[in-house]
Formats: sequence, structure tokens, C-alpha cells
Amino acid sequence: MDLKLEDATVIVSGGASNIGRAISLGFAQEGARVVIADIDDSQAARVVEEAPAGRLVAIHADVTSQESTDAAIGFAIERFGSIDVLVNCAGWTIDRLFLDKPREEWEREVAIDLWGFINFTRSVLPHMVERGKGRVVSISSDAGRIGEWREAVYSGTKAAIIAMSKAIAREVGKHGITLNVVCPGFTPGHPETSGEESIWRGEQGKQFSAEVLARVARSYPLRRLGTPEDVVGPVLLLASEKASYVTGQTLSVSGGYTMI
Ligand SMILES: NC(=O)c1ccc[n+]([C@@H]2O[C@H](COP(=O)([O-])OP(=O)(O)OC[C@H]3O[C@@H](n4cnc5c(N)ncnc54)[C@H](O)[C@@H]3O)[C@@H](O)[C@H]2O)c1
Repeated sequence: MDLKLEDATVIVSGGASNIGRAISLGFAQEGARVVIADIDDSQAARVVEEAPAGRLVAIHADVTSQESTDAAIGFAIERFGSIDVLVNCAGWTIDRLFLDKPREEWEREVAIDLWGFINFTRSVLPHMVERGKGRVVSISSDAGRIGEWREAVYSGTKAAIIAMSKAIAREVGKHGITLNVVCPGFTPGHPETSGEESIWRGEQGKQFSAEVLARVARSYPLRRLGTPEDVVGPVLLLASEKASYVTGQTLSVSGGYTMI
């Protein structure tokens, strides 16, 4: 199926590492033109190098600041003339029991995972309304659907992305804009494809031994953990004209971990 994403213009928050990297490269492979909006400039530059020349560019953007997301949207419009697709992928977490977790970590989760979605979506929508078309695909998590153990506030922020996408989808559908959500399951990052700012390079990544990962994989109906590439196809489909009659929906890409 030709998704007709050739020359589509896309901005991917958190597009430098792991899942975001795979999504950025996936759009580039379809012939789209992509802006990676990330705080990790050196990792973003590495991903730009991996793509066919001229398909990817990077801008330093911090999703916790609407001034910064406004600037990133302005940059993409100046560079490409328009934005067809926003992918909200930037995220951060660290797994701890609710009663053990310091407030600063909740605040970082809320700032990146919740405000990041609000800021970037608010920044791009006026442009999409003006054009009478647009796609917003946001990366939530199965944690936001089921409420995951040791991920209380993160689950809340990811559930908020699902609910806000539905609510906003109702408001902007009349302008030809869709909002949909993709929920990965456990999708570990690797040092070669994850940046310095990646959760997989910090304490979060170090919490999971090979034995724990194998145990998690056994609990998934498809008996393996996700790869970043598993997430790409569903995101491309929801970003394409082939999904023009799909809005306000949530799709788990998690080997059957949740079936809702
Ligand atoms: N990997 C998983 O197991 C998993 C599972 C479910 C959902 N998710 C979600 O998928 C998304 C990507 O996860 P990942 O594993 O690729 O994470 P990652 O940590 O490897 O990548 C996150 C990217 O976001 C960037 N980032 C962090 N803070 C930012 C900010 N303030 N502004 C702009 N960019 C910022 C980082 O620099 C990094 O490039 C996240 O939203 C995450 O919550 C991941």
C-alpha cells in the first residue's frame, strides 16, 4: 500500500532516540521531509546523518516550553512551507513505587509527558486549522491504558494524552484534522540508537537485567518485547491519508500486552 507520504512535512518531538529515531527515519524512508525537535542536539545530528540527504533536519526544542515549541513549528514552516503531521514522541520516566518517588521526578514527568503534548499540539493546531488539514499522532503508553505498577504519575500523564487527543479531535475534526494515539509496550533502547538524554542511558535503563526482560517478554502473548521499528508502521498509517476517517482512537502496539 502506498501511504502517499512522499514530500509530506512532519515534525517529530523526541525524534532523536529509540522510538522517535525509528519514526523519524521511517517517515524519511517514505520520502517525507522531517524536522526532529529534541533537546539532544548531538544525537539528533547523528540521526540526520543516517537518513537520505535533505530528508531530515533537526532543531533544538524543549517540549516543556511553549515558546520553544512555537519556535520549532515556525522553523518547520519556514523550512518546508507547511506541516502535515506532528508526532508527539518526547517522553521521560523512571519507574519507582508511588510512595518512594521524589516530587522532582513527578514534576519532570508532568512537564515532559503532559505539558509536552499540550505545548506542541497547541503550537501546531492554528497552522493546521488555517490549512484545513493535519494529522497529530501522539505516543502514549500502555501504562496510560491500564495504570502500570511503579508508573503512577507517568500512567496519569499518558492517560491524559489519550483523553486530550479525543477531546481535541472532537473540536478540530471539522477542520480536517485528526488526532490519534499509539501506545507502545516495553520497547528497550540500545546505546547505539539512544541518545545521552534517553531514559535507557540513565537509571531507568539500568533497572532491567536480561533476566527481567526475558520474564517480561514471556508475559506478552507474542512472547517478545517491542522494537522501535514495531511502532513505525502504525504511526505512518495514522499519519497518512489512508487513515483520513480515523480520529480520537488509541492503538496499542505491544504484542498483545493490553487488549482493550
Ligand atoms: N520505550 C518504551 O518502552 C516505551 C513504552 C511505552 C511508551 N513509550 C513512550 O515512547 C516515547 C519514546 O520513548 P523512548 O523509549 O524512545 O525514549 P528515549 O528516552 O530513548 O527518547 C526520548 C527522546 O525525547 C527527548 N526529550 C526528552 N526530554 C525532552 C524535552 N523536554 N524536549 C524535547 N525532547 C526531549 C530525548 O532527548 C530523547 O531523544 C516516550 O513518549 C515514551 O513515554 C516508550
